[in-house]
Amino acid sequence: MALNPELIRESLGVVVEREAAITPHFYERLFARYPQVRPLFSRNDPERQQKMLQESIVAVVDHLEEPEWLAETLGNMGMQHVDYGVTAEMYPWVAECLLDTLADIAADQWSDDYRAAWEEALGAIAGLMLAGAAKREAATS
Ligand code: HEM
Repeated sequence: MALNPELIRESLGVVVEREAAITPHFYERLFARYPQVRPLFSRNDPERQQKMLQESIVAVVDHLEEPEWLAETLGNMGMQHVDYGVTAEMYPWVAECLLDTLADIAADQWSDDYRAAWEEALGAIAGLMLAGAAKREAATS
């Protein structure tokens, strides 16, 4: 994966310095723009769900130089997401809301380079999760 770990880490640092809890803002935006996904989030309470997502973002960012770890972890995560009712069309919604949340929090410290690096990374993450999802769907059909 030709990613730009330096820019991703630098931008995440800028964001987290301003606001440690990114995910509540993300969910607020996601549910406002795409209310149809809200019923999917019923297995865990919002606080636990937010913590899991934030931890997974940090874990992925920690492993950006490890393609095997990424493929395996994200493939498994994609498989689980099929069971949550997540479909391929939803990945761009999540990417868009996460990007806008990061940009909003970073405010005047955000840059086009940060956006490009995140767009690329989120596209790659979605690709690996969807590869896992496809395996899951093939196994159950
Ligand atoms: C950037 C890609 C994504 C990442 C890193 C991510 C991460 C996670 C993590 C870590 C969990 C906790 C359980 C688990 O490990 O499976 C989770 C659960 C979940 N995710 Fe995602 N996810 C992503 C994309 C999506 C998308 C596109 C949707 C669609 C709306 C979605 C909906 C859900 C739902 C419904 C759950 C279960 C919620 C619950 O437990 O109540 N995720 N996700």
